[in-house]
Amino acid sequence: MTTKVTLIPGDGIGPEVSAATQKVISASQAPLEWEIVEAGEACIAKYGTPLPDHVLETIRRNKVAIKGPITTPVGKGFRSVNVALRQQLQLFANVRHLRNLPNVPSRYQDVDIVVVRENTEDLYAGIEHMVGKDAAESIKIITREASERIGRYAFELARREGRKRVTIVHKANIMKLSDGLFLESIRGVAREFPGIECEDRIVDALCMNLVQIPEQLDVLVLPNLYGDIVSDLVAGLVGGLGVAPGANIGAMGAVFEAVHGSAPQIAGRNLANPIAMILSGVEMLKYLGFDQEARRVEQGIDHVLRHKEYLTPDLGGNSGTQEMAAAIVESMK
Ligand code: NAI
Repeated sequence: MTTKVTLIPGDGIGPEVSAATQKVISASQAPLEWEIVEAGEACIAKYGTPLPDHVLETIRRNKVAIKGPITTPVGKGFRSVNVALRQQLQLFANVRHLRNLPNVPSRYQDVDIVVVRENTEDLYAGIEHMVGKDAAESIKIITREASERIGRYAFELARREGRKRVTIVHKANIMKLSDGLFLESIRGVAREFPGIECEDRIVDALCMNLVQIPEQLDVLVLPNLYGDIVSDLVAGLVGGLGVAPGANIGAMGAVFEAVHGSAPQIAGRNLANPIAMILSGVEMLKYLGFDQEARRVEQGIDHVLRHKEYLTPDLGGNSGTQEMAAAIVESMK
């Protein structure tokens, strides 16, 4: 029995890092079948939309997708495909596993943090209006239902992955009702998980902790806006975009993707670092229950990162995207 997954290569460096990822993830011997579909600007001429219905349908059918980055025009043109996917598939959790990797420049050691960001509400619900000519109002929505759902996801993840502590991040000292509800809802969920420590921190204090004592933090659960900012902060702690994997999880399925964009300046030149997307593939393997295969890929990545001759230019080496992937495949044999 094979498991079918949807692969959206994306544009810019997307096709290169996707090809590298497909090669490495297939070499893990997980029984996957790839259904490759296009999304983004190239689809507009053909289908009149960057996210055609048949793409959504394959993801709904397969329940799992992995995608490369897609260029979003600034200020004009189509809406972000990522935002549309999140909304259409109700992907309520944005999850990033961020840890220090060998030879990836970072000021820190021993950082190993999972950021769990609520993906559907908060100030990102997009409810804004002008109040007269000279004032604007943006409405922050927090519900018990969405807060409990993200809280439960964070605690279940902690239990599944053998993690010790979940930190609820908020600003409930100021936003007593909205952030207060987020905090109270997740504290309620925490009582169902007596084996996992639950604590909370105010978001500004958390940011200071992240730069001073990041090795002491474990799983963080945050509302949408703080989650957006803190997940980039933590990606920066472990070496930035080239190595940060991501996942968007919903009740009906999941879409895995690297955190970085389409890097048009280096597209088509075999220069892109494929690690972030390969690590997103590792998250996909774990999600599908292929833990052994996931570990095999992680060990391959760790091995290759220890050897300067396999590193891409962003990590100070001269290797190409495909050569790095081939070295990971070789080290997994
Ligand atoms: P970017 O992530 O594409 O690039 C930022 C910097 O990081 C550039 O210097 C780039 O060369 C470098 N970089 C990124 N990924 C790399 C990799 N794998 N290996 C080596 N270097 C890498 O961000 P930017 O420039 O803000 O966005 C470019 C386009 O990507 C925009 O159209 C944006 O909307 C889109 N984007 C798409 C995302 C997605 O589809 N998930 C996420 C973020 C941005």
